[in-house]
Amino acid sequence: MQVTTVQTTPIEGQKPGTSGLRKKTRVFMGRHYLENFVQSIFDGIGGAAGKTFVLGGDGRFFNKRAAQVIMRMAAANGASRVIVGQNALLSTPAASHLIRLNRTDGGIIMSASHNPGGEDEDFGVKFNMANGGPAPENVTNAMFDRTKSITAYKMLEAQDVDISKVGEKSLGDLRVTVVDPVADYADLMETLFDFDAIRQLIAGGFSISFDAMCAITGPYAKEILEKRLGAPDGTVVHGTPLPDFGGMHPDPNPTWAHELMDRMNGPNAPDFGAASDGDGDRNMIVGRNIYVSPSDSLAVLAANGHLAPGYRAGLAGVARSMPTSTAADRVAEKMGMAHYETPTGWKFFGNLMDDGRVTLCGEESFGTGSDHVREKDGLWAVLLWLNILAVRKLSVAEMLQDHWATYGRNYYSRHDFEAIETDKADALMNALRKRVETLPGETFGDRKVSAADDYAYTDPVDGSLSNHQGIRVIFDDGARFVIRLSGTGTSGATMRLYLEALETDPARFDQDPQDALADIIASAHEIAQIKTHTGRERPDVMT
Ligand code: G1P
Ligand code: ZN
Repeated sequence: MQVTTVQTTPIEGQKPGTSGLRKKTRVFMGRHYLENFVQSIFDGIGGAAGKTFVLGGDGRFFNKRAAQVIMRMAAANGASRVIVGQNALLSTPAASHLIRLNRTDGGIIMSASHNPGGEDEDFGVKFNMANGGPAPENVTNAMFDRTKSITAYKMLEAQDVDISKVGEKSLGDLRVTVVDPVADYADLMETLFDFDAIRQLIAGGFSISFDAMCAITGPYAKEILEKRLGAPDGTVVHGTPLPDFGGMHPDPNPTWAHELMDRMNGPNAPDFGAASDGDGDRNMIVGRNIYVSPSDSLAVLAANGHLAPGYRAGLAGVARSMPTSTAADRVAEKMGMAHYETPTGWKFFGNLMDDGRVTLCGEESFGTGSDHVREKDGLWAVLLWLNILAVRKLSVAEMLQDHWATYGRNYYSRHDFEAIETDKADALMNALRKRVETLPGETFGDRKVSAADDYAYTDPVDGSLSNHQGIRVIFDDGARFVIRLSGTGTSGATMRLYLEALETDPARFDQDPQDALADIIASAHEIAQIKTHTGRERPDVMT
């Protein structure tokens, strides 16, 4: 088999965002597009020679084709071994686990996460490091720099490798190990949770509905919930991964997982509902007639995580992304646990976990995880909830009431304004950035601004600095709003407005979050001049 060096020229816009490079699938399928980026990944990490990588994706359109190209390029670049999921499938957390389990030099994950899939939708590629976590900014910057100067990539001339069956294959000098995408991950879950207790809960009639949204978690959820934990067939719905996710938008939030929401709010609702996203790292938790906001979920897991065997020794600490509500901080303070605030994106948690500072991490964007891998993990969160409910013998609604009674309720919501013209979004951010300097001391409604800034983060482990991570405006009673632009969108700009207010009066725990936050919402619109800049008055999605 022959290695050819293919001449190419840089392609604009190959800058990895919050979570790898995401583009329209047709863009990725364009001439040299995938190849340029993959070569830049290899070059950005100092070459692939002699290295071992994990490879897999969420099954979306172009996943299998891309996997073959990546394997041929890995072979041509001298990699020694690729561990690939059968049929090129791997959830993001399972890929992270396989990297750690096999002590590989990293992994390439093909996914655009919660973005819709299909020929006319989105595709993505990201690189994870040897610790199993997303590449940090200095590495993604090196990759991006390479995309701007690339002149050639290496390709092995070869037929496709058959990855439809588990086993050892070869591609030139590259060893290709095809693995069951589910087995190792499911085994890991058994080491963390009390499967007997959850099995008993289910056997006692506790009913579950898990919506895999025609994406990657279907096979994982069927194996774990239905096979290993004995939940009845049909517990997992939309359980077969499809290249276009069956036309679903695999983002587990009340808007996109509305079928699950209807079931949970309808007659004969199950006791527990959950959904996961395209690549299996997100989760939404719902009880009968009650929705658990991701920020509250993180706080509940922080307060009760030690009830699961894998965390019996207690949590070292908890970290949340800056826009995530401060509910988890309140738990940490009360329990004497360390707590950290980081910029948006899972990559910022890696150092804290590697350094043993935190066990549990979470984001308001339906992401929760622990140091069992270095990605957020949808099914893991579902299992931890089930383990906790099995021990505490409470319903989801009772868990939340109990939690709020102890810590207060952090009302929370995120408003997304999608597909805004980029220059308008930038103008809003620039104006707001200037405005924050003079905001402290000003009064809006009943509240006075106590602090406002353009959030910057210094990593306490390696000292690296990340600027411009979102504008936050904090009021004197702790209420706040944050505005930042999305780093994962693929058309125009998405502006995210995050809103939070703390309520400690139990008589006021049953408000609709939008009502409880109405004043903050109005102040945010006034301060950021959202309508003037964007023409928008109402968000496209509220979570
Ligand atoms: C979004 C979420 C962020 C998450 C990321 C990857 O990024 O807001 O919390 O880590 O997806 O799942 P954004 O589009 O806001 O940059
Ligand atoms: Zn995802």
